[in-house]
Amino acid sequence: MKCLVTGAAGFIGAHLCRALLERGDEVVGLDCFTDYYPRAIKERAVADLRDWADWRLVEADLNQVDLPPLLGGVEVVFHLAAQPGVRASWGQRFETYVDNNIRATQRLLEAVKEFASGVRLVFAGSSSVYGNAPEFPTSEDVCPRPVSPYGVTKLAGEHLMGLYHANFALKTVSLRYFTVFGPGQRPDMAFHRFIKAALTGDTIRIFGDGRQSRDFTYVGDIVQATLAAAKAPEEGTVGQAFNVGGGNRMTVNDVLAVLAEVIGRRPRLEYQGVVKGDVRDTEADISRARSRLGYSPGTGMVDGLRAEAAWIEDVILK
Ligand SMILES: NC(=O)c1ccc[n+]([C@@H]2O[C@H](COP(=O)([O-])OP(=O)(O)OC[C@H]3O[C@@H](n4cnc5c(N)ncnc54)[C@H](O)[C@@H]3O)[C@@H](O)[C@H]2O)c1
Repeated sequence: MKCLVTGAAGFIGAHLCRALLERGDEVVGLDCFTDYYPRAIKERAVADLRDWADWRLVEADLNQVDLPPLLGGVEVVFHLAAQPGVRASWGQRFETYVDNNIRATQRLLEAVKEFASGVRLVFAGSSSVYGNAPEFPTSEDVCPRPVSPYGVTKLAGEHLMGLYHANFALKTVSLRYFTVFGPGQRPDMAFHRFIKAALTGDTIRIFGDGRQSRDFTYVGDIVQATLAAAKAPEEGTVGQAFNVGGGNRMTVNDVLAVLAEVIGRRPRLEYQGVVKGDVRDTEADISRARSRLGYSPGTGMVDGLRAEAAWIEDVILK
């Protein structure tokens, strides 16, 4: 099967591309290497994919690239390209979020409608659409009320998916990823910063009191759900949104205690002010993904942190 993956050189995109190639698919990866974090990290993430004959990386911006030739013969489009990050989404940088999360998504949908209307289109949405949810675990039926500009743009992307499904019968599936961790995690994300600081003896800086909780999801489980969303029967899947959580809801302080065990060292901690746009808690109700996608998360916090720490030691600190 031939697939197009947008955001292919990113944290999750690179893992997804590797999984697709490993199972024998042909993969066209698209990425414009935005400057949100160092290009070298993205280049390393996809470096080993060059060994596969069925891999092609196109460096281009979704807002500019000529899409029809990239869609030729493609059966599934995985749309992961986005400007991530809650904290940076205020102020002047909002423009980048609108460009990469809304405009790029609409442009891709238009091209799929015109040139590849039969493809399955899997969208990487976010738990940030819920904002401070009224109940936990949170099901997809809860009305989304984002509390960050980032969340607003991810919700807009998801709504665009729904609109093109309802009006043009595009086979869209939206996934709401809950805080993803594991090897390759973006350097702006908490675990990456925590592990790096712990390994180098630096102080770990925590936003808020550390009692905020997240449903942490291992990247391998995210890939599993994303592949399943491309394959699951159309009925009950297309036009829908699915929570993809890891079943690892913990407070940040509890994660730090596990991290100290994993690394064998108790790092110094410094608590800072709460960041606007950060939600207090998240916890996914994954029963819909379980029943319709056959999703079953398999990696817990200890194993996941160990894998991420090994990657930071071997790749980032080398
Ligand atoms: N990491 C998480 O915890 C998390 C949680 C929820 C949702 N998501 C979503 O998952 C997706 C992947 O996230 P990630 O953590 O891997 O982020 P990432 O920044 O590592 O990857 C995104 C990639 O998209 C590329 N990109 C951005 N705009 C582009 C454009 N206009 N044209 C071409 N390429 C472009 C970037 O260069 C980057 O390599 C995003 O859609 C994000 O919103 C991530």
